[in-house]
Amino acid sequence: MLSNEELEKEFQAKIDAEIKIEPKDWMPEAYRKTLIRQISQHAHSEVVGMLPEGNWITRAPSLRSKVILLAKVQDEAGHGLYLYSAAETLGVDREDLIEELHTGKAKYSSIFNYPTLTWADIGAIGWLVDGAAIANQVMLCRTSYGPYARAMVRICKEESFHQRQGYEIMLKMAKGTPEQKQMAQDALNRWWWPSLMMFGPPDDKSIHSAQSLKWKIKRQTNDELRQEFIDKTVKQAEYLGLTIPDPHLKWNEERQHYDFGPINWEEFYQVINGNGPCNRQRLKARIKAHEEGAWVREAAIAYAEKKQAKKTAA
Ligand code: 3HC
Repeated sequence: MLSNEELEKEFQAKIDAEIKIEPKDWMPEAYRKTLIRQISQHAHSEVVGMLPEGNWITRAPSLRSKVILLAKVQDEAGHGLYLYSAAETLGVDREDLIEELHTGKAKYSSIFNYPTLTWADIGAIGWLVDGAAIANQVMLCRTSYGPYARAMVRICKEESFHQRQGYEIMLKMAKGTPEQKQMAQDALNRWWWPSLMMFGPPDDKSIHSAQSLKWKIKRQTNDELRQEFIDKTVKQAEYLGLTIPDPHLKWNEERQHYDFGPINWEEFYQVINGNGPCNRQRLKARIKAHEEGAWVREAAIAYAEKKQAKKTAA
């Protein structure tokens, strides 16, 4: 029987050799715990993320844009269910995870605590928020935990459609009437900095990054992904003819990256500690939807039990 130390050594050797960790494999309790934390919060983000966008389904400016937005919001629901299933492979119960969300014990992405004031916000969310999510999720396709990495492959395919539909909305408005262009610029002004915050605190303030990198849960740091996103997005904003609301933004030839201005981390910590513009509204809406949907869950469980009883009786 191997000692805990030998088991840990064997585990780390697998990680270093890029061997995926599967649900039935031995893993350090801390590895399991941090995966449950991250995957469940990722799932919560997908489900809560449906709310700001869902707010515009009845007000989409055309049938085509309504159908596209509907498809996107449904995708997010699917991503959430996918990720709850990935979390359950670690021995947790989905109901408990959802309870942690509803009681404020578990986080979800800061970005969904901002209001969607105009249709251009739906464009900015697809372009910037899904764009940032893609940067993070492409990295997570290489995460060391098998079910999480595999879930990311499918999610990334759908996210690229989300990013494209958002950019198309921004393009239409930026090339539209002066009022439409102004709406697109206002949306960029409102969503730019919160999108940068999505990547998490700066590396020197990140609690989990060092260990997550050692266990290859994370393959890049928060700051690396943030920088990658900025470098890619600046050109897209230029093509739209919109101005990124950062007077410090400037190409640095030596670094081969854009330098950018200070992020308001005070705002970030306010938002992730429940004091953002929409936190209370989001949780209230989630709890109401969960309660109103109880009958569907009960009916599904009753049906499954009846089917099982029939099978056992036969
Ligand atoms: N929003 C809320 N909380 C955040 C956050 C954010 N943007 N960034 C960091 N935090 C929290 C962390 O969860 C951690 O708190 P905890 O210990 O209570 O969980 C604390 O701040 C310290 O941050 P760390 O950098 O130490 O935490 P991580 O190593 O977990 O890194 C992360 C944070 C980069 C968000 C990482 O958890 C991650 O990659 N998560 C998976 C990706 C994810 O959740 N994406 C959500 C994007 S939205 C989405 O995908 C929907 C799409 O359709 C738009």
